[in-house]
This record gives sequence, C-alpha cells and structure tokens, in this order.
Amino acid sequence: MSILELRHVEKIYGERENQVNALKDISLQVEEGEFAAIVGTSGSGKSTLLNLIGGLDNPTKGEIFVKNREIGSLSRKELTIFRRRNIGFVFQNYSLMPVLNVYDNVALPVTFDRGKHINREYIEELLRELGIWEKRGKYPNELSGGQQQRVAIARALVNKPHMLLCDEPTGNLDSATTIEVMGLLKASSRKYKQTILMVTHNEAIAQTCDRVIRIEDGRIVTGKRRFPAKGGDDAC
Ligand SMILES: Nc1ncnc2c1ncn2[C@@H]1O[C@H](COP(=O)(O)OP(=O)(O)OP(=O)(O)O)[C@@H](O)[C@H]1O
Ligand SMILES: [Mg+2]
Repeated sequence: MSILELRHVEKIYGERENQVNALKDISLQVEEGEFAAIVGTSGSGKSTLLNLIGGLDNPTKGEIFVKNREIGSLSRKELTIFRRRNIGFVFQNYSLMPVLNVYDNVALPVTFDRGKHINREYIEELLRELGIWEKRGKYPNELSGGQQQRVAIARALVNKPHMLLCDEPTGNLDSATTIEVMGLLKASSRKYKQTILMVTHNEAIAQTCDRVIRIEDGRIVTGKRRFPAKGGDDAC
C-alpha cells in the first residue's frame, strides 16, 4: 500500500497575468518506509510540493492521498489532528518557538497532543544523537543556524511520524554533521518504518536515498526507485 499518492496535482499561484504554474500534472506514489530525495533547481516547485503533501496549502487541481485519506476532504480541524499525528515537518526556516528552550521546543508536539505521555527517554536520545543535549536549556536565539536546524529535526521526529517532510534539513550543516543527521534520519526511518521526503540541493546526499524525484519547471522528470518497491512497479 502506498502511504502517499498524488493524482494529477496542479498548483497555480496568483491570478491572470501574475499566474505562476508551480506544479503541473504531478502523479506520484510513495511506499511506506521509502526515503526519497526531491531535487530540482530553485523555483522548480519542490517546497510547493511538500506544502501540498503536508496539507499546508491546497492544490488547484488533483487529489492527494495520505494513508488512503484524501487530505482535501478533511475539515480544518481534522486536518490539524491528522497532520499532528502522522506528519513531521522540517522547514527551511526552522520555525522554533523563541520563548521556549530547546527541550520544550522539542517536546512541544507531544505536549499538544499526548501531554501525559512525554517520552523523556526518547527526547534525550534524540537530543544526544543530534548533539544538542548540552544545549537543552538554551533558547533558539542563543543557538547557531545549524544547531537550530537540529532542534527542528528533533522536534519533527519526536512524535515518531509516519511521514517526515524535510525542506533542506541539512542546508545549514557542515559536511560531518550532515552525514550524522542523514544517518539518524535513515536509522529512524528504518526503525519506525517512516517515509521520508527530503528536498536537497546536494546531489551526493540525494544519491544516498532509496529514490530521487527530480522536478523541473513544475513537472516530475524522473522519480525512479533505485530498487523496485515490494510488489510495485518501477515508475513514479
Ligand atoms: N506563495 C506564493 N505565491 C506566488 N508564487 C509562489 C508562491 N510560492 C512559490 N511561488 C512560485 O512558485 C514557483 C515554485 O516555488 P517553490 O518555492 O516551490 O520552489 P523551490 O523549488 O522550493 O525553490 P527553492 O529551491 O529556491 O526553495 C516559483 O516560481 C515561485 O516563485
Ligand atoms: Mg524551496
């Protein structure tokens, strides 16, 4: 079963002469547990694609199914709950809460949803693996860009989401930390059967993923899997 399916998705921003056709007839299936890189030049539609998959914006046409639910059919409230339970996000702008320290930023999604079940051991494990345990009492403005990015990654993983959507999660990290973070994401994806979609400009990183989805001018030009998914065909 595909965890994610897009059927003929189109996204147009703006009106009339200001129209931008950001995504054009995108059809795509992603299987549970797949780690896919999304690559393409600046402005090709990568962030738009992630935003639509995460239900942060609506497609102009087409349908998006996550775990067999068409997210466009959910009410705002249903979508908020569905997203919180199933999807983790790591954005280009870390979107951390400035008034919360590192630990509380990471615990925030749990506090929202399952306040009584904060898994302190898991939070500690994440913070240690990401090398920010020592910073747990600091506030976002006391951290470097790369440290903030790692806090955002910990926060996205804390609910063990079925699907993780990352927009350049290693963009601000040095190469050694990038390798560590990629290792952590891969281990997490294997351990919890998480599906990860990761936008990256780094071709070498993309090549370490199960699959590379390449977007050019709003269209998928290649999305082949390196290894055919179980029972699936090789096309996107
Ligand atoms: N809110 C918006 N309103 C109008 N146009 C938009 C909006 N967001 C994105 N666009 C346009 O849609 C196209 C795709 O943008 P998108 O942000 O998806 O690109 P991207 O591949 O993520 O680029 P980058 O690598 O620079 O982050 C671009 O032409 C952009 O200008
Ligand atoms: Mg982008």
